[in-house]
Amino acid sequence: MSNRTFTMIKPDAMKNGHAGAILDRIIKEGFRIVALKQTKLSKEKAGEFYAVHKERPFYGELVDFMSSGIIIAAILEKENAVAEFRTLIGATNPAQAAEGTIRKQFATSLGENAIHGSDSDENAAIEGNFFFSGLEQF
Ligand code: RTP
Ligand code: MG
Repeated sequence: MSNRTFTMIKPDAMKNGHAGAILDRIIKEGFRIVALKQTKLSKEKAGEFYAVHKERPFYGELVDFMSSGIIIAAILEKENAVAEFRTLIGATNPAQAAEGTIRKQFATSLGENAIHGSDSDENAAIEGNFFFSGLEQF
């Protein structure tokens, strides 16, 4: 079990002005920031990041959305980080997200669901290294 996960505050939450509240919540839940940046994905980079979903019907929409605006990317540290963070963000579809989760509070729809969280230790490492060099992780 690794103690790091990777997250992105997605373009919908950025546009709706929720970035500060979301970061505050993450820190209050005991996650330490290892790396953090504001950036924007090109279509190509968004497609690469979500390549695992390439065959899915929603892939095109997902890539368009994730490259539609500024995001915040971060590596986070906490014991059992991947599972703890998935619990904190809630179900993919905000309509099914539990009360008190970030998606319940800030997401608008299944496609525009405010925040990303890695789904395994292996993907957390791959995704973190996609955005940050070793010199940017503390
Ligand atoms: P994420 O990777 O962004 O943290 O989301 P997740 O694990 O909860 O969900 P995943 O299955 O990895 O799907 C990635 C993103 O694709 C969009 N999606 N749209 N229209 C649809 O049926 C559909 N299904 C998934 C969501 O925005 C989801 O976060
Ligand atoms: Mg996922």
